[in-house]
Amino acid sequence: MSFISALAKRSFSSAQFRKPVIALMSGSTREGSVNTQLIHAAETVAKGLGAETKVLDLGNYDMPVYNQDLEAASGLPKAAQQLKAELESADGWIVASPEYNGFITPLLVNSIAWCSRGDPDGEMYATFKGKSAVVLSASPGAMGGMRSLNPNRELLTNLGVSVLPDSVAVGGAFGAFDDEGALVDVGQKAMLEAAVEKLFYQSRDAANREATYEMIDAHLVGEYGEAGVVA
Ligand SMILES: Cc1cc2nc3c(=O)[nH]c(=O)nc-3n(C[C@H](O)[C@H](O)[C@H](O)COP(=O)(O)O)c2cc1C
Repeated sequence: MSFISALAKRSFSSAQFRKPVIALMSGSTREGSVNTQLIHAAETVAKGLGAETKVLDLGNYDMPVYNQDLEAASGLPKAAQQLKAELESADGWIVASPEYNGFITPLLVNSIAWCSRGDPDGEMYATFKGKSAVVLSASPGAMGGMRSLNPNRELLTNLGVSVLPDSVAVGGAFGAFDDEGALVDVGQKAMLEAAVEKLFYQSRDAANREATYEMIDAHLVGEYGEAGVVA
């Protein structure tokens, strides 16, 4: 079968339609973290749209600093296996990170480094390919930690994640959330809602690519199917 003919339209029963699962992670485990607050604000938006959500607290996934000799000797730590499984079972991810010296946090880099390893049969980045994500940041500073957005985006993109162009950097973050945990600034709130909404629809399509009404059986990021194969 050629690649083009694989892009046929298919019809399925809407009864099989399932809610997308969105996993949310903060790159900070600091008590009172503004990035964790931003994750919870994003979760409220995602839930409101009808997503199933799970907040993954990286503090619950204790891992050593990644070291290839350690991996060769003992494989993936249990915490890395668990985090990897949680990420893999979600359709979309929301990742908020503080800006540490213009970059994402060591905690986030380390967690993702471990999760990028240990795929079966030598397949690389199985946890990441085909996922969609939104990256966010928050900082007490005026720029909202926005210099962490590109490194966050670049890391995930390198692993095969489709990172949406929409992102939000929340400045002045110590006063940015109301008592319910929502963003006070209407502009920031609208940007967060727009980003999460786009992720919701993209994740819903991915979640139901085998079972929706009628959709194009297109390939997701990182899947090259039978491209180049002539029938
Ligand atoms: C090592 C380190 C580096 C930092 N570098 C930056 C920075 O480059 N830009 C910035 O806006 N804030 C920087 N900060 C301040 C953080 O934005 C602030 O501590 C913030 O509250 C961390 O996010 P959290 O509340 O989610 O933990 C830095 C903090 C630390 C500990």
